[in-house]
Amino acid sequence: MKSFEADQIHAEYPIVHNVGMNSAQGTFYITTAIDYPNNVPHMGHAYEKVVADFYARANRLRGVRTRFLIGLDEHGQKIQEAAQRDGISPQAFVDEKAAKFRDLYDRLEVSYDDFIRTSEPRHHAFATDIYSRIRANGDIYKGFYEGDYCVSCEKAYTKSELVGSKCPVHGNPTTVIREESYFFRLGKYRDAVRSHIETHPEFIYPAERRNEILSRLSEDLLDLSISRSTFMWGIPLPDDPTHVLYVWIDALSNYISALKQPTDVFEAFWPADCHVIGKDIIWFHTVIWPAMLFSANYALPRQVYVHGFMLDKDGRKMSKHVGNVVDPLDVLNEFSVDVLRYYFLRTFSSGLDGKFALEDLEERYQSELADDLGNLVMRIAKLVQSRLGGTIRTSGHPADLAAQATLREYFDFVDTREHHRSVEALWSYIRKTNAYLNDKQPWKLSDGEALQNVLAAVLEAMRVIAHLAFPILPATARAIGASLGFEIGPIETLNNGPATYKVALGKPLFPRREKPTLTVASGESRDPFSILELRVGRIEEVREHPNADTLFAMTVDLGFEKRSICAGLRAHLKAEDLLGTRVVVLTNLRPAQLRGIESAGMILATDKEDGTVALVDPGNARLGDVATVEGISGTPKMNISKRDFEQVPLEIQATKVTYAGKPLRTETGPISCEAPDGARVR
Ligand code: MSP
Repeated sequence: MKSFEADQIHAEYPIVHNVGMNSAQGTFYITTAIDYPNNVPHMGHAYEKVVADFYARANRLRGVRTRFLIGLDEHGQKIQEAAQRDGISPQAFVDEKAAKFRDLYDRLEVSYDDFIRTSEPRHHAFATDIYSRIRANGDIYKGFYEGDYCVSCEKAYTKSELVGSKCPVHGNPTTVIREESYFFRLGKYRDAVRSHIETHPEFIYPAERRNEILSRLSEDLLDLSISRSTFMWGIPLPDDPTHVLYVWIDALSNYISALKQPTDVFEAFWPADCHVIGKDIIWFHTVIWPAMLFSANYALPRQVYVHGFMLDKDGRKMSKHVGNVVDPLDVLNEFSVDVLRYYFLRTFSSGLDGKFALEDLEERYQSELADDLGNLVMRIAKLVQSRLGGTIRTSGHPADLAAQATLREYFDFVDTREHHRSVEALWSYIRKTNAYLNDKQPWKLSDGEALQNVLAAVLEAMRVIAHLAFPILPATARAIGASLGFEIGPIETLNNGPATYKVALGKPLFPRREKPTLTVASGESRDPFSILELRVGRIEEVREHPNADTLFAMTVDLGFEKRSICAGLRAHLKAEDLLGTRVVVLTNLRPAQLRGIESAGMILATDKEDGTVALVDPGNARLGDVATVEGISGTPKMNISKRDFEQVPLEIQATKVTYAGKPLRTETGPISCEAPDGARVR
């Protein structure tokens, strides 16, 4: 197939021989976090897998032997309890969920080579093995685990996690529990881990995360509790089967257990080149995992790549409790897989949090995918059809559209883990190609060499574009190839030399969209209640307003953020009655300066007949939870006025806060207020 002068062509694309900063073995092993299957997969899960998939595909594209692992973290109390609630075995529970995760990842074209599930025998075998190696090294001992247990969370907290000695989520008093547990001597490895991080600047990406971890490592490290005897859905310790491994030794060892069986490829692929994870589990991957590997005498992974979080359009965490979740499946059904992949990879700067906004996605669909790329493919296909009868002979590289710099940039950004810049590099080449066509105006040229040369240059440019697009938009890249008569192969094939391409008109890659049907919780004919955003908060600080006799100036913790709120409660309540109290806050009220102090929200209350005030009580709900009314959904408006709020009558009925006769509630239960029937909430 190759008919070219090797030296000349390699000079054309020298990048194809540059395997970048990948491992000395010349292989590339990339992993993602293994997800908890206690629920269905969400946007954050999807985002992480697509980011990792880009790096896996980009490395395969340049000919590096690549292995890509994803999977599920299936053990633990939460899963055991969820299975019990459903009346099935934990194994049946995770089997069912695993199918959903795999379906989503398959639809997203996540090109994993292996999918590990921690309930598999191959994982049990290795997790037990690494535990035994750590133990043989003298790093495991039996002791007592003490924690402050919150019955509502069904979870124990450490002292430092408590807020004012109460549960950080519910504000309840906690009970001290004491359980037998095995411990890992994590403290022993503090200096070794710190020195590794110091001497390997590439170990943690991005650098800010590295500094965070180094500063935490300047404090003493407590040993780590690694077993539980209070539930049994886990891997029993080989030397004490009354205990199962607790969370991290079990979960982290997946990265190696998947290399050991069914085929042992450990030698070829360990150490991993890149563990892709979210920022909430960085400590486990950059401190606990290295300490375990030191103890068990394994080499350390080369890099932990920490991506940011996928937030909603207003920058809040997506969560069921908050009601702002965008389901990846809805987006896939409305657009296509490639559109979501492109949006993930282009919009969210590597390593930073990103806001998911459908409006933004729509806009990029039209301008970047349909106008820049889709139209370009259609234009060249039509021109070759109409002017050259559908066949074109090219020299092997795009004469006027030199692509070496683009290729180099693209792969340099793969190596520096700045995938959004790889995408940008490709798009600037796409725009250059569009500009070239506009400039040369081949439709005005008469048949002949000039016309042939322009179209050949664009066709060769399209080969470059399709190949570089493949890790981002695999289906689109294949469709471009199908229309323009080539296949997507290793990037090396760009050097294949002169060839003839048969061009067919394909369907538009990104068809014009009719009226969008997917609206994320933003019902058109909305119920007036849906404009309100009411959330659970806790009053953390109360001061008398220095310039207003009736006002308290307070700090209210909403779980995801703290707000300054002023309220005219001084005539009715004392500061100590308010401090620590859980309240319901109107959080989308337009912020105002009240005599020099910001007030961003309103605390809900009712006036009683005796002139006293009763605060609305959210019960046991978590901080930040939203108050909803059954059957009413919609995205709250931004910055509403006091008058907007007053248009939505909230009334007390049988000590419950109601709207249109229906109770307001959170995930945890109804919202109440000790006031007589008919009292209006203000
Ligand atoms: N099971 C553990 C990981 C063990 S790895 C040895 C776990 N599972 S998880 O399902 O909670 O999260 C899986 C991955 O998704 C983590 O890397 C986590 O950071 C990531 N994300 C969870 N929510 C996210 C967003 N909203 N945005 C982006 N990624 C987020 O942790």
